[in-house]
Amino acid sequence: MPHLSVKDARLEPAIGAQAVVKGWVRTRRDSKAGFSFVEVNDGSCLGNLQVIAPAELANYESEVKHLTAGCSVAVGGEVVASQGGKQATELRADSLEVIGWAEPENYPLQKKRHSLEKLREWAHLRPRTNAIGAVMRVRNRVSRSIHDFFQEDGFLYVHTPIVTASDCEGAGEMFRVTTLDPADPPRDDRGAVDYAKDFFGRASYLTVSGQLEGEIYASALGKVYTFGPTFRAENSNTSRHLAEFWMVEPEAAFFELSDNIDLAERFLKRIVADVLRDCQEDLEMFNQHVDKTVLERLEKLAGGEFKRLPYTEAIGLLEQAGEDFEYPVAWGHDLQAEHERWLTEKHFGGPVVLTDYPASIKPFYMYVNGPDAEGRTTVRAMDVLVPGVGEIIGGSQREHRLDVLQQRMEEQGLDQADYWWYLDLRRYGSVPHAGFGLGLERMVQYVTGMHNIRDVIPFPRTPGSCEF
Ligand code: 4AD
Repeated sequence: MPHLSVKDARLEPAIGAQAVVKGWVRTRRDSKAGFSFVEVNDGSCLGNLQVIAPAELANYESEVKHLTAGCSVAVGGEVVASQGGKQATELRADSLEVIGWAEPENYPLQKKRHSLEKLREWAHLRPRTNAIGAVMRVRNRVSRSIHDFFQEDGFLYVHTPIVTASDCEGAGEMFRVTTLDPADPPRDDRGAVDYAKDFFGRASYLTVSGQLEGEIYASALGKVYTFGPTFRAENSNTSRHLAEFWMVEPEAAFFELSDNIDLAERFLKRIVADVLRDCQEDLEMFNQHVDKTVLERLEKLAGGEFKRLPYTEAIGLLEQAGEDFEYPVAWGHDLQAEHERWLTEKHFGGPVVLTDYPASIKPFYMYVNGPDAEGRTTVRAMDVLVPGVGEIIGGSQREHRLDVLQQRMEEQGLDQADYWWYLDLRRYGSVPHAGFGLGLERMVQYVTGMHNIRDVIPFPRTPGSCEF
């Protein structure tokens, strides 16, 4: 008998098919009329398949009537039109094999609803819940859209390294990679740990961004993207930060800031359109149980324009907002989450792209604008802010002029010798280029409405937490 997923078996065209469905029991209910209803889920969709298990089954009394949540089963039979109104189909079982029992006294996911916080303690079982199962299907769809979008647009997928010696963001938030014995490391003449004797012959870290290596490949292949795990040792325990997250970073030669913003806008709209089309059932669940504004927000983003605004104008708006912000608003200060949210949620009520930030608060690699009327220097940075999440994309046009870049590195105390290859790109056929980074988890938060970033990645890594 052919194997059918629950998703396919729930659809009307399956009616009449003889099939085997395999999955995990959600509930069992015994009818006085001589059969049991067994709800089976296999993760292929949100809904369960209703199995009708008749008393005639040889193992009805000995096994079927002992099924509890979490047991794994293989059910063979005919898909028929459902008598009840809740689903289109159900499976009339001719056979029901129990593959694995689940001790009812110990299985944590009993019928009672658990909080998302509690479910994090059971990260090995939580994908069997409606909420986390739905998040992971959406996460999968978003990941596929990311590849589809860039592949269809002529971007090449490059694999930038996970282990690196350079701190792209210059924030010093890197995890060290070492094979030295922490109890007895080799030391240099001055008593400092001698990383020249470490595995790679120098201090090495987990990457905070694939951008710098992406720029190398964009300077040869034109349009590239990298998509992989990214690490930040920032000690922020917020609902938007992870120590390990996934970032997609396109980088394109002959791109200036406005091309970069256009790309980001098309990209986000494409992901949202794909999810709206292909994840309807999951989105409706999020809209009903997690965030009642999700569908409306997504439809608005897919159909509307992104507001574009220089940082300096945003500061003006914030100063006049009449809000009692916790952090002061002043030109030259980075925007805090509360400021970003005011702009995107309260003031504009939709996606906003902020550009041209003060040079002093941005990394060395961003293209420097000439001084403004008041003599202040900005860089061609862009942050995309969306309601509910805040910053979802960060990017910029890159500084491709050797002398300006060298000056910026000097200002920021960076050793040019460490970046010789990055500077070489500006010596040999340098071209304007630009790119950005989208945090996959923030995108999944945005499309699902999930409040905490820990609930949109299978195994969250945060300060003090590395179970599983
Ligand atoms: O703004 P960020 O730091 O930009 C860069 O790393 C650039 N090098 C990207 C580029 O231009 N190629 O990070 C980009 C995005 C943020 O907007 C956010 O979505 C996500 O990465 N992000 C995080 N997501 C989860 N946890 C964290 N700790 C994150 N830090 C950044």
